[in-house]
Amino acid sequence: MDLPVIEPPIAPRWVWMEEVTYSHIPIATLITAFLVLAPIFEYIGYRTKDSRYDRLAKSMVVFCMILYSPGAALGTGIPIFIIGMWPEFWSRWSNLFFWPLIVQFIFFLLDVFFLFFCYYLPWDKMQNRKRLHIFFGVMTAIFGLLIQAVWDALGAYMTTPGAPLPAVNDPVGWSPQAFFNPSYPYLFFHRFFANISWTMLLMGGVFALKYLRQKDDKEKAYFGFVSDLTFTIGFVAFFMMPFIGWGFAKVLQQKAPVAFHSIMGGHASSFFMIKMGLISIMLFLGGGYLFTRHKRKFIIGLMTAGIISSYLVLQWHPALDWLPGGPFVWRVSYTVLFLAFLIYLWMMKREGLHNRTIWKWAMFTAGLAAFFAFTFGGFTRSRARQPYNVYEQLVKVEVLPRELDRTLLYKKCVTCHHKTPKDFERYGKKDWPTRVAIERKRDGVSMSDEEAERITRYLKEHY
Ligand code: HEC
Repeated sequence: MDLPVIEPPIAPRWVWMEEVTYSHIPIATLITAFLVLAPIFEYIGYRTKDSRYDRLAKSMVVFCMILYSPGAALGTGIPIFIIGMWPEFWSRWSNLFFWPLIVQFIFFLLDVFFLFFCYYLPWDKMQNRKRLHIFFGVMTAIFGLLIQAVWDALGAYMTTPGAPLPAVNDPVGWSPQAFFNPSYPYLFFHRFFANISWTMLLMGGVFALKYLRQKDDKEKAYFGFVSDLTFTIGFVAFFMMPFIGWGFAKVLQQKAPVAFHSIMGGHASSFFMIKMGLISIMLFLGGGYLFTRHKRKFIIGLMTAGIISSYLVLQWHPALDWLPGGPFVWRVSYTVLFLAFLIYLWMMKREGLHNRTIWKWAMFTAGLAAFFAFTFGGFTRSRARQPYNVYEQLVKVEVLPRELDRTLLYKKCVTCHHKTPKDFERYGKKDWPTRVAIERKRDGVSMSDEEAERITRYLKEHY
């Protein structure tokens, strides 16, 4: 299809796209997470008669009200950019999901209705009708999550399409196979817990700084309390991520191997490593703080269990061949690091210096690290799918020959070796033409002369 494609000025098209999505997605995810937690806090406040929970819940809802319009307005930029820059993708994709998008529109209206008229406006008037008010909060949360549920289906489809992308003139409207595609549940739950985790960690960090600035003792006590509460929730919620992420990666390995290999050692791996680095910073600072802060065995036990479970995920992961000495040295190194981390945490526990200014800044830094880990996660996912709009269904208009060759190499070679593109770097001989000629003859390999030539050229240039 030769639809007219708009070339944006100044920056390449993907930069424009990332810019507009990054303006919308952090706001949308924050609102979704806040609206899930607000009625829960309100309920706890109602049951325990502790007004701090009610104040916290209300302040979160007020914050959502402030962000709702800019978030929605910025969201409208996303389809506009796609319509101009990738018109064929837009028309085929939106036509496949026309009815879910309409339903999403209705969810949006209901969400606004419940949030504005039933939850936010009558907050004070309904102090004596708390149960009904909390019910309205729950309805707001449900519609917020349903909006996310629709968009995650569309987003997951782009990496693991469960059904073919229809032609431009083929009015599909709705396809359950496309909607309930293989990576959809993983994306949804990965996002759900990530949203709770990064928003609560960052909010805890911001409240910690507010705590430092308060002069009034009562206010100081309030901010100390809510910063600890939210930060702890964010920290504990994080430990769901390695498990869901593991399942997510497994599905990609089966259904979108090229995207999988891009992340695991391929061209998107550096972003993934930055994300892991940011998570380590968050764990180090956040864990240190929470162990100095909490005396309750239950919370300390929960965090220790979370850290040990993350260690298990590393154990399941195939050993990395990074360090001199190979996989064994890798396993020993991270085991030593984990033990050192646990010892550091238990030493912190004995310190009990959590009110020090430096710890409040550590919380804020941990919150920022969590936020950037979240942004790098999304970035890695969209980079891994390059050069496709929809995995193996539609290639982007601006695709470079180099990117197509890379995809071919991953598909024809790495998927069989089941390791990583890094293996080509480690292969000493670099006799690529001979090597490709040998590999072509293996059982089950089908490769045209032209494909072999492109793979050889790519290997010569990049390894
Ligand atoms: C059918 C599965 C399969 C496919 C497809 C395949 N290989 Fe291999 N490859 C193997 C096997 C099996 C070996 C030999 C065992 C080993 O040395 O790991 C091997 C060995 C190699 C080695 C030597 C490893 C070493 O350290 O000595 C290189 C390099 C290599 N393959 C590159 C490629 C490239 C490039 C492609 C794509 C053109 C490719 N392979 C496609 C299965 C495959």
